[in-house]
Amino acid sequence: MLIRENVSLAPFTTLGVGGPARFFAAASDENHIAEALSFARARSLPVFTLGGGSNLVVADAGFHGFVLKIEIPGIRPLSAPPDADARIAVGAGVEWDAFVQYCVSRNLAGVEALSGIPGTAGGAPVQNIGAYGQEAGETIAAVHAWDTRADKIVELTRAECAFAYRGSVFSAAAGRYIVLQTEFLLQKNGRPGAQYADLRKYFAGSVNPSLAEVRSAVLEIRKSKGMLLDPNDSDSRSAGSFFKNPVVSRDEFAALKQKARAAGVIAPDEAIPCFDAPEGNIKLAAAWLIEHSGFSKGYAHGRAGISKKHALALVNRGGASSSEIVSLMKLIQERVAASFGVALNPEPVFIGFETWGFKEKR
Ligand code: EPU
Repeated sequence: MLIRENVSLAPFTTLGVGGPARFFAAASDENHIAEALSFARARSLPVFTLGGGSNLVVADAGFHGFVLKIEIPGIRPLSAPPDADARIAVGAGVEWDAFVQYCVSRNLAGVEALSGIPGTAGGAPVQNIGAYGQEAGETIAAVHAWDTRADKIVELTRAECAFAYRGSVFSAAAGRYIVLQTEFLLQKNGRPGAQYADLRKYFAGSVNPSLAEVRSAVLEIRKSKGMLLDPNDSDSRSAGSFFKNPVVSRDEFAALKQKARAAGVIAPDEAIPCFDAPEGNIKLAAAWLIEHSGFSKGYAHGRAGISKKHALALVNRGGASSSEIVSLMKLIQERVAASFGVALNPEPVFIGFETWGFKEKR
């Protein structure tokens, strides 16, 4: 395995900002991973596992450790027809959307609404990627990972993965596991998920869309929101949603609504968009909160900005620095907190920010 030094990380991220990795290598199997870990341990270097870089913000100073890019290939059916359920193993380095396309073209239901999400299949369980009414954790049956604490390959069941909204045991125990392969349990000839408001609107009037129709609808909707990677669309030079949608209790929701009305942030008869969340809580739309805190789509902040197509994506308009992105992030957090008393938590992973006193999230 080739270990390179001072490799610029920006080109390995969809946001396209940040400095170099002190060491960098690509691993296409477990032996490469073992080699990289022993190299890093011998030098007491932190290791960061890189997938598609679609949910990553790298500091301008770069990362002083070892960046290990996972390129484990392969999509392998583990159960064959006539089974109603299809168990498919996918290598962590496979492009996520190639996997979705594989499933949809074989009429396997369960991931079609996750079409067009950038990144690799290895990132899917880590972040429990979700969109248009589906989450990867709903169809993941098991994850094979390298446990860097025990220094061996382990298999985690769905329950052990502890999937949550945009999180899992893999993101919670940051750095402990390196995902090698994920097994999905999909439904042969199953019905597609099409309950999300945008999809219902898209299919209004037409009944029972096929998996392929849902896939193409999702791709079209994502494109219209700048959430589909396209070199010709600078609105897609982002890390996807930059903030998680905040979840609050019903009491907190009532209080913040009252406060926002009293302060004139919203009109007396204006409703705040809200969605049911687990345990009787309420999920707020971060994009809406941002747009009602003095920002609009297309807002510019140096060479960084807010997407013209979706208020939740921070974009690199060309040549932006990581510090411009982070200062825009902080400005948005401050204004949303001042307007609504709600804390917006960033969704991406941040690396290399230790020296700023900014808490690194891995
Ligand atoms: N809205 C605005 N302004 C905007 C966009 C949205 O006010 O520019 C409001 C609207 O009220 C809208 C609501 O926000 O009804 C929700 O918007 P949308 O359906 O676009 O979804 P989202 O909550 O902003 C989430 C995920 C996306 C996922 C979409 C579709 C999070 C943080 N984001 O976005 O995931 O694609 O739903 O399912 O949960 C990602 O995680 O990177 C990501 C892109």
